[in-house]
Amino acid sequence: MNKTIGFIGSGNMGQAMINGLLESGIVDKEMVIASAKTEGTINQVSERYGIKVYSDNNELAKRSDYLILAVKPYMHQDVLEDIKGNLKKGAIVITVGAGITLDFLKNNLPEGTRYLKAMPNTPAMVGEGMTAIAVDQEFENEEMEEILSIFRTFGRVEIVEENKMDGVTAVAGSSPAYVYMLIEAMADAAVLQGLQRKQAYTFAAQAVLGAARMVLETGIHPGELKDKVCSPGGTTIEAVTTLEREGFRSAVMEAMKSCADKSRSMSK
Ligand SMILES: NC(=O)c1ccc[n+]([C@@H]2O[C@H](COP(=O)([O-])OP(=O)(O)OC[C@H]3O[C@@H](n4cnc5c(N)ncnc54)[C@H](OP(=O)(O)O)[C@@H]3O)[C@@H](O)[C@H]2O)c1
Repeated sequence: MNKTIGFIGSGNMGQAMINGLLESGIVDKEMVIASAKTEGTINQVSERYGIKVYSDNNELAKRSDYLILAVKPYMHQDVLEDIKGNLKKGAIVITVGAGITLDFLKNNLPEGTRYLKAMPNTPAMVGEGMTAIAVDQEFENEEMEEILSIFRTFGRVEIVEENKMDGVTAVAGSSPAYVYMLIEAMADAAVLQGLQRKQAYTFAAQAVLGAARMVLETGIHPGELKDKVCSPGGTTIEAVTTLEREGFRSAVMEAMKSCADKSRSMSK
């Protein structure tokens, strides 16, 4: 890709994206630039990734074809106010700020600027992110492909309508927390069966990773995959019966409903 990709903010999410982009090789290192606030981060990011890191967001904005806002949501307004006179011609502004709406971008960017909203999750830090993208403008196919390819460098990406973002928060943004709880509970149960603690986490986490890949890579319905593990009268169906009796699936569904409801109430 022969475009300059600039990141305003080089914290956890900014660096996860920078790392993915550089590892993927879809752009040359010189085409990735960033900014940060403190000297410590500026030095750390430029040393770690070998990229140019600016202390002045306007210097970055002037050069960026894709300008990715990776500062905290509450900072967006000030940052946009500061840089809006210095956007590169034709730049596409992308925010990853939780709760930042397309309307907010429209209202805080010069008329005619193209923009979109993206919501990645923390596994982006290990290249296994899940990002949702929402748009309310037309993009050329080639441009959209380029945008998607940026997000694919650190995981998967799907386009959704903006009003589905609360559901995305429940199923992707917040869901790593539920999965960590599942892994922790599985490991505790394995320790109860006499396994070493460290091994227990490895067994539990790898089982979750493997099961997730089975769903994604075989395309087989998760119910069918579950059925294949349950031999008649066997051990797995015993566990499945207990999970059903204890309300496992309904607990997950209720939890995600409360998560999406909270997300909806916060964006009002
Ligand atoms: N972390 C996640 O899991 C996650 C997931 C989805 C979306 N997001 C979104 O990603 C955004 C960033 O989150 P984060 O977790 O990466 O935060 P973070 O680690 O605190 O990083 C924020 C970065 O912004 C920089 N910064 C602060 N003020 C700035 C300014 N005026 N100009 C340029 N850079 C500035 C900070 O620089 P210094 O280091 O020098 O202070 C820091 O590098 C948020 O909007 C969040 O909603 C995060």
